Amino acid sequence: MSQLEAADADDVLEGAVHAVTLSGTKIGLTRVNGTVQAFVNKCPHLGLPLTKGKIVDGVITCPFHGSSFSLCSGAAQDWVTGIMGMNMPGAVRGVITMGKTPRGLAMLEASEVAGKVFVALG
Ligand code: FES
Repeated sequence: MSQLEAADADDVLEGAVHAVTLSGTKIGLTRVNGTVQAFVNKCPHLGLPLTKGKIVDGVITCPFHGSSFSLCSGAAQDWVTGIMGMNMPGAVRGVITMGKTPRGLAMLEASEVAGKVFVALG
């Protein structure tokens, strides 16, 4: 597994996703309580980017169908709640899930050294 330079540390902020591509992998970087977190920037539901996701208390909510994930563990907190921020009743949600069962966000090991953020890719 190699550690790749991903960003300037100053570009990685609380409450926002800094999107980068490393070796062809789309990665999201953010901070939770000051600590850099890195994840594969594809929602586990349909693989859409989480770059515009809303982050509250270390949890990111997908802007497309409302699934949410811990940015520390990657664990799913909620799974497909609606469309583009509008909550939908259970029957509609069942259709939107497209048969996908809840799964977590793929987290990556990240570190911060001398003003740079590094991500482990293997
Ligand atoms: S793509 Fe994220 S919840 Fe559907």
